[in-house]
Amino acid sequence: MMKLCLILLILQWTTVSKVVGPAGPVVAVVGEDLILPCSLKPNISAVDMSVEWSLADSDDVVHLYYYGVDNLRQQIPAYKQRTTLFREELKRGNASLKLSSVQISDGQKYRCFVVSDTGNVVFLISLVVGTKPVISAEGHGDGRVSLVCESTGWNPAPEVEWLDSEGKILPAEPTESHRVTEDFSVKRRVTVEEGDTHNNISLTCRVSSHKHTKEEQIHVPRAHHWKNLFCVFLLLPVIVAVIGFLLRKGISYLR
Ligand SMILES: *[C@@H]1O[C@H](CO)[C@@H](O)[C@H](O)[C@H]1NC(C)=O
Ligand SMILES: *[C@@H]1O[C@H](CO)[C@@H](O)[C@H](O)[C@H]1NC(C)=O
Ligand SMILES: *[C@@H]1O[C@H](CO)[C@@H](O)[C@H](O)[C@H]1NC(C)=O
Repeated sequence: MMKLCLILLILQWTTVSKVVGPAGPVVAVVGEDLILPCSLKPNISAVDMSVEWSLADSDDVVHLYYYGVDNLRQQIPAYKQRTTLFREELKRGNASLKLSSVQISDGQKYRCFVVSDTGNVVFLISLVVGTKPVISAEGHGDGRVSLVCESTGWNPAPEVEWLDSEGKILPAEPTESHRVTEDFSVKRRVTVEEGDTHNNISLTCRVSSHKHTKEEQIHVPRAHHWKNLFCVFLLLPVIVAVIGFLLRKGISYLR
């Protein structure tokens, strides 16, 4: 009993010393759901505190939890119905915010601001958003094929690499990067031999930002088209014969 009282007393006196999260930014591609981490240290319950997530540059409210209830009246429209706190996790001092179907414009710096009876603590976290890499292919007609990998929306510009099926980095043309308003679009081309008769060649484009990577794979099939055409040509007389036969059967049946 004594012990319990002592523990309760200590708990009573524990105050939040800080809020913590990852050292680097959170990186995501458009459409993903993500978590912006923010936790109290020590990990006491935040249920009876106020948690405000806002944009660090403009103070616009992204999500407000006010002593037990969400208060979204001041939430800016861009985040409507896309934010949630983890109620169960709040009991453990975890004030992380879930952000659904992330958009390019979400790529900003966020403030996690926790107000308790004993004081305020704040943590800043950046979110970096870009589009999933997209690969396009163009044949040269000489057994070689050019592949272009593109991705946009990033800030800062990410690194783009081409990898072969074994994960080795391929020599590729330099990355082209250009700025569209605040964001960067990147593009990188690689030229490879087409696969041999049996195998596709499988290549991966990797876009990386702050040690996070997003990958997209492409299988470049051997140009089989002529073979398919060849088959059709071989089969054509047979098909014609069968149709002719059926027609004749049909006509004689009708008679
Ligand atoms: C708080 O953190 C401690 C140590 O880091 C851990 O043992 C404990 O389970 C945590 N408490 C809760 C409620 O998550
Ligand atoms: C906080 O809660 C989220 C959602 O459940 C979880 O992914 C994250 O790991 C938690 N953070 C900590 C520090 O426990
Ligand atoms: C070759 O690529 C096609 C798609 O382009 C895929 O359906 C097929 O399974 C691949 N074959 C091999 C052997 O990887």
